[in-house]
Amino acid sequence: MAKIYSQIKSFWDSQPCGTAHINLPPHSEEYFIEFDKFFESFYPYYLPFLNLESMRDKRVLEIGLGSGFSLHRIAEVAAACYGLDLSGGTMALNQARDRHFKLGLNLVQASATNIPLADNSLDFVVSVGCLHHIPDIQKAVDEIHRVLKPNGIFKGMVYNRHSYRYHVYIPVARRFSAGWKGKTSQDCVNQMYDGSDNPYGMVYSRRQVAAMFRRFEITSFQTQNFVGEEVLPRYGYRIPRNVWLKTLGKIVGLDLYFSARARK
Ligand SMILES: C[S@@+](CC[C@H](N)C(=O)[O-])C[C@H]1O[C@@H](n2cnc3c(N)ncnc32)[C@H](O)[C@@H]1O
Repeated sequence: MAKIYSQIKSFWDSQPCGTAHINLPPHSEEYFIEFDKFFESFYPYYLPFLNLESMRDKRVLEIGLGSGFSLHRIAEVAAACYGLDLSGGTMALNQARDRHFKLGLNLVQASATNIPLADNSLDFVVSVGCLHHIPDIQKAVDEIHRVLKPNGIFKGMVYNRHSYRYHVYIPVARRFSAGWKGKTSQDCVNQMYDGSDNPYGMVYSRRQVAAMFRRFEITSFQTQNFVGEEVLPRYGYRIPRNVWLKTLGKIVGLDLYFSARARK
């Protein structure tokens, strides 16, 4: 297990999430401003899902920070804002964000499978796009349950097993496309979601999420995110992204968002 965690850490150290999208020095103030503009317009459902107002004056932890778009917004409303990530490169990126924007972040480099915070100490835990990269995911979910207060809220996202990509695009590509023949579904998931060097990424169904979060009450599920070219190769981009998001994205989208309340 230690070996896979060290591979995962090296992968995210070598390319902290989001740094490939923006052609500016990653630790500069301009980088963060541009990245945040891109992130908010590309994922228009993201801030409504977080419902930042509900986090006002609360104690909030985010796990798996990437370039820190949501941590920044959470810090602006929360009473205490903690950010935890396995990767030192991601920590450095978020430290730079904190310096530029004076957010008062409490940043911790650790694995979600071993959260260095007290039992029952948080009102919210947020983790979008991270849990599916953790081989020992149940341990991370148990840690989230431990640090949340009774009735504390988890808000998160994992890759959706019942997506168009997983059930249609990948099987068709594996059968008919020369470059994909001989690859396993898992190779395809790794390559398509995070790049072929990604050592670990899984897809989950609602039922699997409910089983992992059995000590929580799941209060909402929604699917989001879609790439139109996977339906209409070469032409999908002519249809605005928002049209895909509001139609197929809601039914067979790439990502499964959910909220859950800790039962204690
Ligand atoms: C795909 S990025 C998601 C970033 C951000 N939440 C977003 O939506 O853009 C995944 C993040 O999870 C972190 N990560 C991976 N395994 C982790 C673990 N075991 N514990 C904490 N963070 C982890 C990575 O370093 C990376 O920053």
